[in-house]
Amino acid sequence: MRAARTAILISGSGTNLQAFIDAVARGDVALDIRLVFSNVESAYGLQRAQQAGIPALALSHGHFDDRESFDRAVAAKLDAVDPELIILAGFMRILSPWFVRRYAGRILNIHPALLPLYPGLNTHQRAIDAGDHWHGSTVHFVTEELDGGPRVLAGRLRIENGDDAASLNRRIQAIEHRIYPKAADWVATGRVRCNGGAVLLDDQPLIQPVVEDFD
Ligand code: GRF
Repeated sequence: MRAARTAILISGSGTNLQAFIDAVARGDVALDIRLVFSNVESAYGLQRAQQAGIPALALSHGHFDDRESFDRAVAAKLDAVDPELIILAGFMRILSPWFVRRYAGRILNIHPALLPLYPGLNTHQRAIDAGDHWHGSTVHFVTEELDGGPRVLAGRLRIENGDDAASLNRRIQAIEHRIYPKAADWVATGRVRCNGGAVLLDDQPLIQPVVEDFD
């Protein structure tokens, strides 16, 4: 099967990037990772890309006056590889409306919460403080609303008595490494399509995301 030309955007360690690299190597996902881009020059994920023989480049947002001019510079780098899919994997920048519209329906993100609960930061602590029994991570399409785009696939776990933010982070990252390549493969192969605000799975409207339990 033809693999979708893909760019992966990171800002940090890149464990999700590594999960994609490994899934491609196993032949589990129909992605052709053409570029890894970071807005942080020291991001360890850049080394992961280089070790896998994937072109990697960094450009600091600090060199730009405003969000959109940075995003236009990023887009110029991305367009050089003509991406069909853009995967945000720990990319810690809010994207401008200009960027989101340019690649509408082609940008995926993973957010460490059961969206629509807890958009934004500190999701694990917020789930603990609220006394939640379930927590998880959600793959969604990116729209102009932060962490608010149509959801595709969520992975859930039960919050145990001894859990703190660090233990939840570890457990949830392991889930992310399973669900993110899977959801991206659905998009790459056309099983999932984003049509404006709606997501179709196998041509049927996906009103709620697919949920997988890991406990
Ligand atoms: C992930 O936990 C993801 O949910 C969030 O950023 C984190 C990235 O981690 N968006 P890594 O860089 O992939 O290890």
